[in-house]
Parts: sequence; C-alpha cells; structure tokens
Amino acid sequence: MFLRDHWYVAALSSELESKPLSRQILGEHVALFRSESGEVVALADRCPHRGYPLSLGTVVGEQLVCGYHGFTFDCSGTCVAVPGQDRIPSRADVRSYPVVQQGLWVWIWMGRGEADVAKLPSTPWLVDTKNWSAVGGVAKIDAAFDLLVDNLADLSHETFLHNGSIGTPEVATTPIEVEIDEDANVVRVYRHMNSVDCPPFYSRTTGLEGKVDRWQDIEYSPPGFYLLHARIAPVGQPPLPDGTDDHAFHMKILYGLTPSSDGKVYDFWALARDFCVGDDETDRFLEKMQTSVVQEDVDALNILQMRANGTTESSEVSIKIDRGGIAARRMLASMRESVSSK
Ligand code: FES
Ligand SMILES: [Fe+2]
Repeated sequence: MFLRDHWYVAALSSELESKPLSRQILGEHVALFRSESGEVVALADRCPHRGYPLSLGTVVGEQLVCGYHGFTFDCSGTCVAVPGQDRIPSRADVRSYPVVQQGLWVWIWMGRGEADVAKLPSTPWLVDTKNWSAVGGVAKIDAAFDLLVDNLADLSHETFLHNGSIGTPEVATTPIEVEIDEDANVVRVYRHMNSVDCPPFYSRTTGLEGKVDRWQDIEYSPPGFYLLHARIAPVGQPPLPDGTDDHAFHMKILYGLTPSSDGKVYDFWALARDFCVGDDETDRFLEKMQTSVVQEDVDALNILQMRANGTTESSEVSIKIDRGGIAARRMLASMRESVSSK
C-alpha cells in the first residue's frame, strides 16, 4: 500500500531534458520532461487517445506531442490539439502532477488533492551552491520499500557491508540514541563516535588523518525522505556552546526513497558538503565512492528480497542496533493504518 499524500523524489534535475523520461512512481507511469523555457513537468504517461506512452513523444516548446498520432498537451496536461479536426474531445486531457525542483532533485506530489507545500522537505544544502557542493545519483532496487528503510535506519551495517569506504569497526560497536518525534513525524538516530579512525571516504576529502570525532545524526521523515547529518572533526573539538562549528567538516547525506511499484523502489541519493566547495576532483571522488556504496546496498537488498520471495520464513531477531529501524517501521505502519481507516 502506498502513502500518496506526500512528496517523493521523482528524478535528478540533470535527468530532465527535452527528451521525456518515463518513471513508474507509486505504481503510476509518469512522463517527466523540461519544456523549452526550463519548466519541469510531470504528466500521466498514457495518451488518452490509444494509450501510447507520452514519454515516447516529443517536446516542442511548451508542449508535448504524442509520438503515435500527435495529440498535443500543454504543461498542465490540457490537450490543445488533435490531428485532423478542430474540436478537441473533452476527455482528452491528462493528469499533471505538481513538481518542484530543489537543486539536484525534482520532487513530485503523488496525492490526489492539492499539493501540500508545507510537507515539501527542505533541502537548502542542495540549493545553496555558494556554501555547499553536492553530487547525486539514483539506483533502482528490486526490493520492498521497507527493506530500504531498514537499511538506512541502521547504519551499523556500514562496518560489514561498506568495509573499506565508510565502514569502520566503531560504527557497529558505538551505541545509538533513538528519538521518536510523533509531532514532527520524524525518527532520529544519533551515533557519536569519538576518537575513531577516519575512513577513506572522509580522510581523502577532508585531509584529516588518524583519529577523528565522527558523528552520524539521522532524521528519517517517513515515508520518503532521509537525512544524515555527518560531522567529522579533530578529536575533542565539539561545536561551541553558541552552535559555531567551523572547525568541523559537515556532510549532509540525503536519500529520497520512492516506491516504484510493489517490490521495486528508487533509491535517490545526494551528498552535500561544506568543504572543498566547488572542487571538481572532490565531486568525482565522492560520486564514485558513493555510487559503489549504494551499489553494495542495492546488491544486499536485492538478495534479501530474492530470499524472502522463496520462503514463508519471516521470523527475525532484533537487537539494540535495530531500535531506529523498528521505530521507523512503527511510524510507517501507523501512517498506513490511518490512511486505510479513512
Ligand atoms: S496514442 Fe497518442 S495520439 Fe494516438
Ligand atoms: Fe548502506
């Protein structure tokens, strides 16, 4: 069951050009494109004439022309021309979805009613290019949405699955604090590792060697937005009482979790950093590292799903590290329950 009344990441901004992109989101086929004036548009990816995918059509100016017989739609999904006659059938319009571009990401509102702008996650680090540099990507996973939530809510797996890049022994051994904020609809998981080895992911980019203080503060806003505040600093130098933290290196690691169809999920990611801003080499290094980290997660989740498909055995043994994941599962379950009871 999908939670519709939310914003989800639909595409990387760089993916949207005049050639439309087809993406299945919450079970619905959507055609995404950028019009000639630069407007980002999402229309139902089915031509009302004979059902041909509109994503196979052509963008002409501010319109999308179906690639089969030429029905033509404006950016709001209104059919503005059909071939061979002046009268346009009244049912020829297609649904348009509200979309918002914020830096590297394009968000889509999948609800039936008016888009709730207040619910749009705030991602200033992807927009403020003066103080932050960001790289991003997307992977598709053949696994249930909830498996990705589990994966992101418990980072102790970094030690084992991402050994050699971001995983060090202390990630798994350092206890976590979990906070459930029902009002804000957020699960927070804190892991503060002090005087620990700096993994290559950060040593290569920050220049810090040997021991560092490495903090991971997660904020998961179900269903589709996950934010990890990563802080790397010289040992014993916490933020000052007034909040100033200039001696630390900060990275915001964002994930957009977007259900595609049952058992398939898009894993959008973005890394924004407040150091080496504007440095291409750092961009390329982080992009390469993170792509391989994400692929390790993708491979693990695909295998978990394959195993789950072949068995009725679903028992689990949970331990302390799972508290964040369990809190996230509970929040998702109660959101689904409140939708289904409406
Ligand atoms: S299917 Fe699109 S115009 Fe015929
Ligand atoms: Fe991971």
